[in-house]
Amino acid sequence: MSTVTSTRDQPALLGGTPAVDLDQQQANQWPIITEADEQAVLDVLRSGRLSVNDVVTQLERDYCRWLGVGHAVAHCNGTSAILAALHGFGLVPGDEVIVPSATYWASVTPVLHCGGIPVFAETEDQCLGLDPADVEQKITDRTRAIVVVHLFGMPSRMDELLDIARRHNLRVLEDASHAHGASYHGRPIGTLADAAVFSMQTNKLCPAGEGGMFVTDDTELWERVVRLGHYERVLGLESPNRRFAATGFGLKLRISPLNAAVAGVQLRHLPQRNSRRSRNIIRLSRRLEDLGFRTFLSPPDVERVYFEFLVGYDETATGLPIGDLVKALVAEGAHVERPRYPLLHQQPLFTEGHWANVARLEATASRPLPTYEPTALPRTSAANGSLVKLPSFPQATDALLDQYADAFEKTLRHADTLPRTAP
Ligand SMILES: Cc1ncc(COP(=O)(O)O)c(C=O)c1O
Repeated sequence: MSTVTSTRDQPALLGGTPAVDLDQQQANQWPIITEADEQAVLDVLRSGRLSVNDVVTQLERDYCRWLGVGHAVAHCNGTSAILAALHGFGLVPGDEVIVPSATYWASVTPVLHCGGIPVFAETEDQCLGLDPADVEQKITDRTRAIVVVHLFGMPSRMDELLDIARRHNLRVLEDASHAHGASYHGRPIGTLADAAVFSMQTNKLCPAGEGGMFVTDDTELWERVVRLGHYERVLGLESPNRRFAATGFGLKLRISPLNAAVAGVQLRHLPQRNSRRSRNIIRLSRRLEDLGFRTFLSPPDVERVYFEFLVGYDETATGLPIGDLVKALVAEGAHVERPRYPLLHQQPLFTEGHWANVARLEATASRPLPTYEPTALPRTSAANGSLVKLPSFPQATDALLDQYADAFEKTLRHADTLPRTAP
């Protein structure tokens, strides 16, 4: 008996028994597809209306009702919805847009396709959103907009960011791709700024497979978005925009009705599935907080959701480098890994200058183009480097969550004796 206890007590990297041995397949299964999704897809298939179908307008109405907004336009993915929103803002070549670097690339690259210049600002370490103070410092006479990303489902510091935008007359886009169902001071994420976009890609909280949703209360902005990528709807507009019915503004960005059908079913399950995922992660977060990890629990009057579960680790407190922590946890059977997103301002698209070709911008004597230095944004780099990603446990049992907590606890208890091998 004592042998069993002591092997379980030993780090798996040093020959002990792994702490996590329960099945993780079902616990982390996502998306959750039921007969209702299958039936919704079959209904569309059997209708034969595979390009334009009422299921899309129904999904848009569902989003409007769910969020309490006036307009929603479904897109083939979140990337195209962000492009449409920025186009709708009326960016002209050379306009600057303040963006985070720690995000998926699609929060930023559509700026280039509008001829704009992304200006990266620091991420703050409380909510992992744009740092309002740095945003304000980065504003110039060419700044037109801010893209705010509610990273991993944690609402950014919207009061301060919206106040800055109002004072400097900037448009604000919420990239709410990770944040279906989150709220900020009692208001749903996605309704706080000029417009918002939700990705409905498979991993997201309301998945369609591929899909994106643009939402706004601004009718003029909505019409510009319709005009850009949904020519088949332009005749339905009650404004001079109807004259563009034959061409739109040149893109075709509509969602496939098959995907919209899935999204409609998934949206109905969102509150209950979010609450199970959040409950699981909060339970584990409490144990990890006790061990000294930062788990980004919701601040007062904010309700975050968990597209992904990342925790902050301070290796100076334990002496175990983060790479070795991850190795030890993986050996324990925990599915953990290093940060999700490489920082965008360090990517060759920016550092090698290709971005300017995409944006079709050339330097002039009076306006040189910016260069992007990998060493910029030291606070964002430090914060990103301290993150460890765990599964998001959409269907986990308490027993599995406890095994994860045990794996972390055991690893830290043996921090001194674990091998240092990570680069
Ligand atoms: C923060 C963020 N914004 C935008 C997107 C783009 O969405 P999509 O993949 O649906 O094009 C994603 C997708 O992963 C994302 O994570």
